[in-house]
Amino acid sequence: MRISVAIDGPAGAGKSTIAKLVAKEFDLMYINTGAMYRAVALVARDNNIDDTNIEGLCSLIDTLDMRFENDDLILNDVNIQEQITMPEISAIVSKYASIQEVRTKLVKLQRDMSSKFDVIMDGRDIGTVVLKDSKFKFFLTATPEARAERRYKELNNRGLDVNYSTILEDIIKRDYTDSNRQIDPLRKADDAIEIDTTGLSISEVTEKICLNIKSNI
Ligand code: DC
Repeated sequence: MRISVAIDGPAGAGKSTIAKLVAKEFDLMYINTGAMYRAVALVARDNNIDDTNIEGLCSLIDTLDMRFENDDLILNDVNIQEQITMPEISAIVSKYASIQEVRTKLVKLQRDMSSKFDVIMDGRDIGTVVLKDSKFKFFLTATPEARAERRYKELNNRGLDVNYSTILEDIIKRDYTDSNRQIDPLRKADDAIEIDTTGLSISEVTEKICLNIKSNI
């Protein structure tokens, strides 16, 4: 039987860092579903397709071949990981991620991946929608300030000229949009284990998750 692990939570809760480590431990494919929504936002922006043009967006998504290689998103054979994590894309992605038709198409791609491979997926609706039958569901949280601090360090380390207050503002805005949208809002699945990562190290959180998986596998 295929193993699938769901990790949800708000922006900056540490989902991707931790999911990658858990993936190594259990030899799972890491699928960053936020990256898939970001890819749609990037290509839509570059092709001047705005979020009101649903037909244009759907046709666009049908031309996209997405796969993950070494944790990076490869879009039509090009590694776009660097571009999709730029602040300009973070600022527009929620608009595209709140469109039902976009979500339906991406959820289908995500489920196809989970039927072919043992996966760990992170996102907002993995435990509630994409992998709702998964045995392993985790919901990571942390205060907005702790999350903004992590994002700030990450972008700063990449040499980007970023401002902590702007990042905090963006995180609070995105929390609101992601949690209050009509379709598949960010929420903890009833059967997910919640972990508050504020003040915990990456290895402490990873260990909690790995122990839980090992004892229920
Ligand atoms: O995890 P992230 O910050 O890279 O996600 C980018 C955006 O995509 C974020 O605004 C929430 C949205 N998203 C979503 O709606 N559903 C998912 N499964 C993953 C991300």
